[in-house]
Amino acid sequence: MKKMKKLNLLGFFLLGCFIATAQDSAIKSSVRNVETKVDSVLALMTIEEKVGQLVQYNGSWDLTGPASEMNNKQKEENLKAGKVGAMLNVLSVEATREAQKLVMENSRLKIPLMFGYDVIHGYTTIFPVPLAETASWDLEAMERTAQIAALESAANGVNWTFSPMIDVSRDARWGRIMEGSGEDPYLTSKVAVAKVKGYQSDDLSNPQSIAATAKHFAGYGFGEAGRDYNTVHIGENELHNTILPPFEAAAKAGVATFMNAFNDLDGIPATGHKTLQRDILKKDWDWDGFVVSDWGSIPEMIAHGFAKDKKEAAKIALNAGSDMDMEGGAYESSLVSLVEEREVSEDYIDDAVRRVLRVKFKLGLFDNPYLYSNAKLLEEISFEEHKNVARDVARKSIVLLKNEGELLPIKESVKKIAVIGPLADDNDTPIGNWRAQGESNSAVSLLEGLQNNLSENIKITYAKGADLGIGERSFLMPLEINKTDTSGFEEAINTASEADLVIMALGEDAFQTGEGRSQVNIGLAGVQQELLEEIYEVNQNVVLVLINGRPLEITWASENIPAIVEAWQLGSESGNAIADVLLGDYNPSGKLPVSFPRAVGQEPLYYNQKSTGRPSNPIHVTYSGYTDEKNDALFPFGFGLSYTTFEYGDLTISDEELTPEKPIEVSFNLSNTGKREGKEIVQLYIRDFVASTTRPVKELKGFEAVTLAPGETKTVTFEINEPMLRFYGANKTWESESGEFEVFIGGNSRDLKKASFNLKKLGLKASAQELIWKEDFEGDSLNMENWSYETGDGCPDLCGWGNNERQIYSEDYVEVKDGKLVITADKVGDAYYSGKVNTKDKFEFQYGTVEVRAKLPDGHGLWPAIWMLGDNINEVGWPASGEIDIMEFVGRQPDTIHNALHTPASHGDTENIKTTPVKNATSGFHVFKMNWTEDAITFYIDGEKTYTFSPLEKNEETYPYHHPFYFLLNLAVGGNFGGPEVDDSIFPKQFLIDYVKVYK
Ligand code: BGC
Repeated sequence: MKKMKKLNLLGFFLLGCFIATAQDSAIKSSVRNVETKVDSVLALMTIEEKVGQLVQYNGSWDLTGPASEMNNKQKEENLKAGKVGAMLNVLSVEATREAQKLVMENSRLKIPLMFGYDVIHGYTTIFPVPLAETASWDLEAMERTAQIAALESAANGVNWTFSPMIDVSRDARWGRIMEGSGEDPYLTSKVAVAKVKGYQSDDLSNPQSIAATAKHFAGYGFGEAGRDYNTVHIGENELHNTILPPFEAAAKAGVATFMNAFNDLDGIPATGHKTLQRDILKKDWDWDGFVVSDWGSIPEMIAHGFAKDKKEAAKIALNAGSDMDMEGGAYESSLVSLVEEREVSEDYIDDAVRRVLRVKFKLGLFDNPYLYSNAKLLEEISFEEHKNVARDVARKSIVLLKNEGELLPIKESVKKIAVIGPLADDNDTPIGNWRAQGESNSAVSLLEGLQNNLSENIKITYAKGADLGIGERSFLMPLEINKTDTSGFEEAINTASEADLVIMALGEDAFQTGEGRSQVNIGLAGVQQELLEEIYEVNQNVVLVLINGRPLEITWASENIPAIVEAWQLGSESGNAIADVLLGDYNPSGKLPVSFPRAVGQEPLYYNQKSTGRPSNPIHVTYSGYTDEKNDALFPFGFGLSYTTFEYGDLTISDEELTPEKPIEVSFNLSNTGKREGKEIVQLYIRDFVASTTRPVKELKGFEAVTLAPGETKTVTFEINEPMLRFYGANKTWESESGEFEVFIGGNSRDLKKASFNLKKLGLKASAQELIWKEDFEGDSLNMENWSYETGDGCPDLCGWGNNERQIYSEDYVEVKDGKLVITADKVGDAYYSGKVNTKDKFEFQYGTVEVRAKLPDGHGLWPAIWMLGDNINEVGWPASGEIDIMEFVGRQPDTIHNALHTPASHGDTENIKTTPVKNATSGFHVFKMNWTEDAITFYIDGEKTYTFSPLEKNEETYPYHHPFYFLLNLAVGGNFGGPEVDDSIFPKQFLIDYVKVYK
């Protein structure tokens, strides 16, 4: 057990068994959607109750951080008073029921609690630690283990896990590197999505799934010198390109909560970081879950020197967008008075509470607060089946680092095996540090695994050789390492010298990695190296099995020991999984998600480094390297051997020029040149040679598992498209830049085949100009191939769509002048007329981004607009075909711009019209942008997101945007539209369009 005492709330909570029904809740679920429900609850709440929802208590004496000052009696009173929104470390059906009951039976509004817990790699059944599991590169397997962890948690009353940890980390000294997915943002993003899907399923109210947490937001993996909780110095470029992508992926995958981080980031503690939490996470990513602080991280801003006391810390954190205070005691003591004193706006509080309530509704807690405290679910679980999954994923996570002379798999000629090492018969270390409710000593040890799986003709002898971790081993306490006692060496040496093969299990104690477990040495701790060398002296047939949570410095072993197996901390089924690999029942396929250094002094070490201005010089010292060691890794990212061999053929590229409209393909033949069936994780890397900011020497952009029979060859093809080449560059947006690229393919990040290609984008406005305009509006450059306007009077084809303007179509009203498209309105008789151009039947498209730079006319009554209409408008009519108003300027309301959508279900509904005030709306050019996907339509004005439209249920009524649309540029005016009071003379009457870009 991670915790010293199994938590039992019965000690101070009321006893009793109370089955809740929907009527227990003061809030009925009859209201239609979650948002309405949330608002209806919020409307009932006092400020004290609101703040209560933002408070999280630890269950009792089960600590994962410094203890708070509050005693249990007081906690109980606060629960009854509705002053607590969530708890953590309350485990078991009984304990969660008891706590929930206090709230449901005593508080005024009976808002159910959430129960969080660090279910990091399993609840009862323990899977490989996350770093290990990532080495499987098997996203389906990772989703499955999260699903099982969710089921076992839910069955014990826990409905919220503080996982996945998706901090990219490149420093093996950091003990928490074990909790993440390693050094690469792309791979970590993929794992993040798999984990969120696994924990949450596609319906949070499913009682077998639980809410997940993307943590720690952000930068926690970059603590200086690998020291936990340490300062993080990274710039905007690294933040966006490396640290944020997994978080954005998790947000987009619908993760219910985020946890912020202990560290400061370029001077601002993450917990008080407004740009991160409010601007990026909540605004730019449009994410609607809630942010929980890390344990006590709000008051820790006092020690950071960022807040003078708890009250100021509460103010900073809440204003910065930290919604819930985990065990910090800052929100409960200060928020109410901060609101009264107007230091924190009630709007911010309401937003935070809404977020919390939203997750609770989605979890189904308002319908049944005891949904997750269901003993029956526990009875139905097949732990046997979970064990099988644990064994399968564990063996997929093993990485074969070296296998000289094909020592592995163990040959039939081997009759006597010596199993040696402090971790060889250790049932505890494979469970790892974050072991949730996995019982101590419950893993199958390596020795047991071999005994279970080896045939009886093979004799196994065992000698421990030495201890590794000694004394008390627990989550919070320092670990003592045996550095002196070698009294077991002699027996081990004797045992080894009599064997045909030695299997040595060395590495790290479970409590050498995890929170607070940073180390400056990452070699084999204690007397292990000495033991290894002495054993090797007497028997060179050594298979070194590493059991550890971080990359280790194993240079000596890599030079001397013939076979090395990276077996990490593999969880409950560790020994059986290792035996499967050693015996050849499973052909290893894992690949390292982190670089293994030659020396700890190389840390932080990662494959996707920058080139520097002095990348290499074999002659002089004046380049970016070391004088006493090589630069590269001992075992690089992506590395892992198999019992068979794979050969990569040369790359064929379908076209050397890639454009945003036209992806290319790279293909090659992969052959199994060995004697066994094997699975190879094929990796695709890309390098951008010259860019507006420096770029890594290579970056992972894709991977695929390919299984081949001996002698078999398969052609493998990857698509390379423009979005894969985007990065956060000098323009401070994610975009690709034209130029030369290299694509690499191989079985690790070092040994690669390559080919070159060019990305061709015709400058900033390029693709659109090609599609829509002739070059740069010079002369009469409106590209008539893509646009049309009709001449003549009256109301031809497009009259009546959207407004009732009269229209005149003639070259006088639509022309290209000084590089701008000018659309003019004029008064003819009593009415105003307008020009209108469109791309109907000429250029229609579906999904992508449209960007228009335009200057609006001022005055009242004019109605310039940039629209899109469905190409099926003639068949289904309007609004059934849908309408997307990228920009609509209703001149009667100066300085406000509409982004609007019309669907059959929402036509006329103001919810779908977002009005945004724009400074100097008519006095300068503004950029109007719209991004359209299968799932959402998002609008931007001058780079600021203004509105996202994404109905939960999507069908032709609510989201008729699954077919191509065409453009309309319009200056529309009805004679009476401006109203009688309008002074005609003020109209400049011209709508200027600088460019229209369209890209995918
Ligand atoms: C850790 C978090 C964890 C929390 C709750 C903190 O010390 O940094 O990752 O979720 O405790 O146990």
